[in-house]
Amino acid sequence: MHPHLIETPNTPAIAISAVHASALPALASEASAVQRNWLASCGFTAEPGSHCLLPDTAGRLARVLVGVAESIDLWACAGLSDTLPAGAYQLDESWPAERLRDLSLGWLLGQYRFRRYRSAGATAQARLVADPGCDLDWIKAVAAGIFRTRDLVNTPAADMMPQHLAENMKQLAASHNGEFCEIVGTDLLHQNYPVIHAVGRASAHAPRLLDLRWGELDAPRLTLVGKGVCFDSGGLDLKPASGMRLMKKDMGGAAHVLGLAEMIMRSGLPVRLRVLVPAVENAVSGDAFRPGDVLTSRSGTTIEIDNTDAEGRLVLCDALSEAISEEPELLIDMATLTGAARVALGPDVPAIFANRPATAQALQQCADTNKDPLWPLPLHTPYKRWLKSDLADLVNSASGGYGGAITAALFLQDFVGDQRDWLHMDVMAWNTEQLPGRPRGGEAMALRAFFSYLQQRFAA
Ligand code: BES
Ligand code: ZN
Ligand code: ZN
Repeated sequence: MHPHLIETPNTPAIAISAVHASALPALASEASAVQRNWLASCGFTAEPGSHCLLPDTAGRLARVLVGVAESIDLWACAGLSDTLPAGAYQLDESWPAERLRDLSLGWLLGQYRFRRYRSAGATAQARLVADPGCDLDWIKAVAAGIFRTRDLVNTPAADMMPQHLAENMKQLAASHNGEFCEIVGTDLLHQNYPVIHAVGRASAHAPRLLDLRWGELDAPRLTLVGKGVCFDSGGLDLKPASGMRLMKKDMGGAAHVLGLAEMIMRSGLPVRLRVLVPAVENAVSGDAFRPGDVLTSRSGTTIEIDNTDAEGRLVLCDALSEAISEEPELLIDMATLTGAARVALGPDVPAIFANRPATAQALQQCADTNKDPLWPLPLHTPYKRWLKSDLADLVNSASGGYGGAITAALFLQDFVGDQRDWLHMDVMAWNTEQLPGRPRGGEAMALRAFFSYLQQRFAA
């Protein structure tokens, strides 16, 4: 699974050292004359993010110096893992021992490649000798989950339609002795998921509700719901080209909950897990749902369609109604729900909504310690006035256009109610630029924060 992690601790390896600018003079004075000259010739100043390959007297690579800032996060040497020459490397004692686990994860994440359509391009050749003191199972579980999320998001819509998402989820369930079932096409109508069907019926690829269950029956119930819009054209309220370009990522919420489910199952977290993914394509055809249509949801709430591009909250509402019917102890949904969330917080910081402030606070604490950002936005109830319809219980898209991420979350809250401990994440799921350890493209965001919160809350 991770060929770039060497698990035998005594493998000879080249040391990678963290160097703060203030420690560089001392390091240089202790180094050999050759190395001292080399450092000066390279102009290495230990600028955070920079590095220097140090030779021995024979000109062989002896050591790698990495410039670091005061605080060291998991990305500190993630960029290097992708560019160092072939060989075995080891983080030496200059790195804080309590960060070794995260640094090793960052190293692995930096070697991610999406290889489905092109084998060309250099494969990372540097391998890390894992520190025997760090939790390898955690590293492997988290990396596997994040890679799954990235792969799912990166796969073009033509190859990641509802049936493909179903295959992926079925395989995930099977490899952990979980159960998988799905409701497909017009069966959604017979089993009372009218809104999922309405949003997905225009596509040549039938809409589905995907359902995974895992864990002991008597363990605390944890339910994850992910928006699985395999492509969001906007429907009849068609998106302009620029807005549509990245919409293969609109199943990013589903990709996130599947990545998180993989971490949970691999680590054997003692929960009764359920994952629900409404999987649809928001397409255009003669049978597409229309602005002005009124849909009756699974809960009985009627929804007037103001804009067919606000489809994520629609497919989620039927799935959330099903989710709460089993009264989970904790309900989490994840979705690429609004453009407004990324306007509010930028692409790196997902927005979090919670109907129990203590849950949001504990989660945010985990985000801080794991350096995996997220930020709360309020479920400001007065804005519910913008979701009023003249002829139905709700409209799907708020008038006025203010606070779009909040009004979308308020719409979801209508179906969740206030009895359940509920977290909603509005996430970008995409790196718009290349950063150390984070290639451009699909990204798992805040999953380490969520996983750490779940471990804290549920681990035996
Ligand atoms: N999938 C989009 C939201 C989105 C857009 C996420 C860009 C990330 C990047 C969603 O279905 C959508 O189109 N939302 C509309 C809602 C509006 C019509 C009320 C939006 O955010 O503009
Ligand atoms: Zn949309
Ligand atoms: Zn969408």
